Amino acid sequence: MKPGTLFDKRNFGRVDDIVSDIEKNEATCASITSSIVDYTYENGRRYHAYHQGEYPLPNDAREQERLGLLHHIWKLLLGGGLYTAPISKDLKRVLDFGTGTGNWAIDFADEFPSATVIGTDLSPIQPSWKMLYGEIYKHLKPGGWVEIQEYETWILPSNTEDELPPHLLKWQQSVNEASEKFGKNLNVAKDHKENMIAAGFVDVEDIIHKVPVGDWPEDQKEKEIGHCQRLHMLDAVEPYSLALLTRTLGWTLEDTQELINHVREEFADPKNHLYSYFHFVYGRKPELARFE
Ligand SMILES: C[S@@+](CC[C@H](N)C(=O)[O-])C[C@H]1O[C@@H](n2cnc3c(N)ncnc32)[C@H](O)[C@@H]1O
Repeated sequence: MKPGTLFDKRNFGRVDDIVSDIEKNEATCASITSSIVDYTYENGRRYHAYHQGEYPLPNDAREQERLGLLHHIWKLLLGGGLYTAPISKDLKRVLDFGTGTGNWAIDFADEFPSATVIGTDLSPIQPSWKMLYGEIYKHLKPGGWVEIQEYETWILPSNTEDELPPHLLKWQQSVNEASEKFGKNLNVAKDHKENMIAAGFVDVEDIIHKVPVGDWPEDQKEKEIGHCQRLHMLDAVEPYSLALLTRTLGWTLEDTQELINHVREEFADPKNHLYSYFHFVYGRKPELARFE
């Protein structure tokens, strides 16, 4: 990490609190308190401790590896790039909200040595997306940019006449239903543009990439991306399923594992030509807006 990079491992609260801490200059070198690393273990996976249960995916080494692979896929889509918003090179302050492993924040800080890049993870309160956009809007400087990179949690057959493999269909229906019941709907990538506009952002663009699952495409670049995405999906099935299906929908671990295994088989089957949509959504706070 470059000098000047601020990477705060503390678990921050809402954007309001994050900004207030940064302004008080209290964000540097904060220590990690034991309650934050006092992780919980369930069904063989490790979960975050701070505000336990707020986020339903694990945080263990396997999950970090999956996020590493996913970071690689996002970069492949942009030919090595990290963002799509037309930002200027003399950035001052950058916030990576829900930074995970911090891969993106670290790469970004390497590319913009003059910027202070802050990565935060696991807030005590997960604001709804609409609230989150309002908070981002409030704290961005006029003219500042926000960018969200997120994929749809819905996979489709490449031939519209084909049906989805049965277990995959059941899996995505169940996981999405569970995420709604849990109160944090996963399949929101397609709504970001509309929500950003509603929050007051301008010049909002939603750049959508069709990402294959598997190396079925003819095109070499798509084949490479599809190969990585199939590996990623094989790793993603379990972390997305365990807590949401057992904790939220009350399935037994055996039934959950059985579905996970079937879905993995369907992802591994070269006959299944599948894809999903990855979104790069960015927008700007108007120059004339108030800066709080
Ligand atoms: C799917 S991961 C993405 C991580 C990273 N941005 C990346 O692209 O690899 C989502 C991350 O958001 C974090 N997270 C979930 N709820 C959060 C919240 N309310 N505030 C901050 N981070 C949160 C999770 O702990 C997790 O690390």
